[in-house]
Amino acid sequence: MGQPAFLRINGKTVQVSSPYQPALRVEDELIGRNQEARMVLASWIGQSGFPPLAPLLVGEAGVGKNRLVYELARCTGKNLYVFQGHEDVTAEDLVCAVRFSDDPLRKMDYILSPLATAMARGGICFVDEIGKLRSRALAPLVSVLDERRYLDSNLLGERIMAHPGFRFVAATNTVDLAGNALPEFIHSRLRPRIDVGFPPREEIDRMVKTRFPRIGRLERDSDRLLSLFWQLWRKERGDVPPSPRDTLYLFGLMLNLADADAASPDRSLSQEGEKPPANPTRKHLEAAFQQLFAKTG
Ligand SMILES: Nc1ncnc2c1ncn2[C@@H]1O[C@H](COP(=O)(O)OP(=O)(O)OP(=O)(O)O)[C@@H](O)[C@H]1O
Ligand SMILES: [Mg+2]
Repeated sequence: MGQPAFLRINGKTVQVSSPYQPALRVEDELIGRNQEARMVLASWIGQSGFPPLAPLLVGEAGVGKNRLVYELARCTGKNLYVFQGHEDVTAEDLVCAVRFSDDPLRKMDYILSPLATAMARGGICFVDEIGKLRSRALAPLVSVLDERRYLDSNLLGERIMAHPGFRFVAATNTVDLAGNALPEFIHSRLRPRIDVGFPPREEIDRMVKTRFPRIGRLERDSDRLLSLFWQLWRKERGDVPPSPRDTLYLFGLMLNLADADAASPDRSLSQEGEKPPANPTRKHLEAAFQQLFAKTG
């Protein structure tokens, strides 16, 4: 982490959260998801007297909800502030925290949450795994997500008004929404709901070749390996499709196994970064598949 940044609110100096800058390489393009991205961007257009909407992304684990949000930050050029939801979050955690200061001239530092920072700075706040937050913790969001667009902090004793550039998006896994996990006062404000489904095979194949250019360069052999992967997947999992994460983990492990094979045992662990050139084969893919996905017992 670099030096903390500060901001003044009604004469009080407060520390802000750091934006998240995804480490995306130039070639790490977003594959597909045009419709979902367009829907979020359309939701974020405000009309006079009608504030921008706060979409909710819903999808299975590993389908690409975070990846979509990173792309939205990249294409809008806005700073992204991520709030990671979990069961222990309190309402105040969503707003502001306080800690002993490192500065000998100050006693305490207020630290604005990612949500409050995005509101003050005009960035994007992404509340990830919102379905894991308890109802009580969600209360501060009510005034943020309607026309009021403000956030009250008891700790700070201040009201933070949203900068006109502030935008909000949340995500949840499908299972966390089951049984009406989100209370109606929040659910009704998180609109539209955007379903992020499993990408089609052609897009998954492209993700593998883009993420691992070494595989892309294998040309016809890369298609053979991908076909073998789909065959094994169908045999093991039937009609349940693989997520991008499942697939990328598999091909990542396959490459590691090929590299480990090519290196002598003492080099494979000790010389990080020095990649021996090794082409993955069917054997490496099968071993990786067995390790990651085959049911045991
Ligand atoms: N459309 C895409 N183009 C390129 N890469 C993608 C795409 N979708 C997903 N990925 C990659 O797949 C992996 C999993 O995606 P991500 O973490 O965004 O899933 P998620 O839906 O947020 O999962 P979870 O529910 O577990 O949080 C990441 O490495 C991501 O970069
Ligand atoms: Mg995620």
